[in-house]
Amino acid sequence: KKIAVFASGSGSNFQAIAVAAQSGSLNAEISLLVCDKPDAFAVDRAEMLGIPALVISPKNYASKEAYEKEILQRLTSLQVDMIVLAGYMRLIGPILLNAYVGKIINIHPSLLPAFPGKDAIGQALAAGVKTTGVTIHYVDEGMDTGPAIASAAVDIIAGETHESLQRKIQRIEHSLYPEVLEKLLNGKEEAVQ
Ligand code: GRF
Repeated sequence: KKIAVFASGSGSNFQAIAVAAQSGSLNAEISLLVCDKPDAFAVDRAEMLGIPALVISPKNYASKEAYEKEILQRLTSLQVDMIVLAGYMRLIGPILLNAYVGKIINIHPSLLPAFPGKDAIGQALAAGVKTTGVTIHYVDEGMDTGPAIASAAVDIIAGETHESLQRKIQRIEHSLYPEVLEKLLNGKEEAVQ
């Protein structure tokens, strides 16, 4: 199966998925990185990993529809089976949602439905909760709202900082995301937890 990863930032999850695919623990091909931010480090990572990147700015398109049509054209020509969002900071619109029904997933740094949207880590710290975590879910038209596939909890300890919590969360993300993808792609969805 062929995967396109969408990212807007550092791309550490993109890298974890790509390394898992290259090492064989994830039986899939990472065909493309789609990045909406030309300066994002994810683009450098793609180059280092030898993975093609589509760097595409929505501001160069008349509409979200036109922007997504351009992306879709590339995904179709590469015969991409699945879209994996990893720090992609935009809502997916109808063009991609309708072309990839049930085949777009996202990772979010909280136990959804708690703390959707931006800076979920800061939101959890500000709320003073003792536990937060990571959720992998199907993508629908909402922000971090689709059905959950897997989640993992992370304790917030005394003296926790944004940086320390982010580090713990990302460590889990980097192992959980490739693992869940492997299970999804091999039809063992019921075993995901
Ligand atoms: C991750 O923490 C992910 O949960 C969130 O955005 C972050 C992306 O980090 N959606 P990176 O770009 O993969 O390093």
